[in-house]
Amino acid sequence: MIKIKKATQKDIQGLSKLLLALLENKNSQLYQDNVSKFGIPEDYVNNAFARETMLKAAATGKTTFYLALDGNEIAGFAQVTLQDGCIAELDRIIVFPQYARQGVGTQLLHEAIADHKQKGAKTLIVNAGKEEAHARRFYEKNVFKQINEKLIDTPWGKKLTLVTYQLHINQ
Ligand SMILES: CC(C)(COP(=O)(O)OP(=O)(O)OC[C@H]1O[C@@H](n2cnc3c(N)ncnc32)[C@H](O)[C@@H]1OP(=O)(O)O)[C@@H](O)C(=O)NCCC(=O)NCCS
Repeated sequence: MIKIKKATQKDIQGLSKLLLALLENKNSQLYQDNVSKFGIPEDYVNNAFARETMLKAAATGKTTFYLALDGNEIAGFAQVTLQDGCIAELDRIIVFPQYARQGVGTQLLHEAIADHKQKGAKTLIVNAGKEEAHARRFYEKNVFKQINEKLIDTPWGKKLTLVTYQLHINQ
């Protein structure tokens, strides 16, 4: 059975280590889904998932990491940041391929929503690549509504069309 927990500093260190180890396999689905598909350079990925980067985000007190655990094994995680006002942003949600399509992503999302309701957030937003059919299907199934579409210059120098979804979590 999958359990969701808020990550401690120690959990975040373990998550970073796992992500960096898994992403060393350039043929893995995880690497294809999250890195090569977007043409993200290796340095950027290594920096995004570095222990220091993740701990620094958590240390702001605004960013929370949620882990989906199958016993001691990490099945996936979500990262949510409470922004100014009443808006929270789902920065990232990843379910590892062997746990895909078993409701783990939905469980992570529900926990993040419940937690941010308590924190007073009224809206959860998320950006997805326009071409990311699976992720978009996931958000739409979870009744997010598309509110915007924009072409952005990514930090790694490519153009990317993003769609923004919004979910009201507290009326
Ligand atoms: C998107 C993601 C987090 C979904 O996690 P998940 O645990 O597999 O999702 P769930 O099992 O909770 O699925 C809920 C619904 O989302 C949709 N969905 C999820 N994965 C899908 C897929 N591969 N293809 C089509 N629809 C999908 C379905 O509607 C599904 O409901 P159903 O199984 O009853 O049809 C996961 O596929 C993932 O990690 N993808 C790679 C990373 C990514 O794109 N993250 C989002 C952007 S940061």
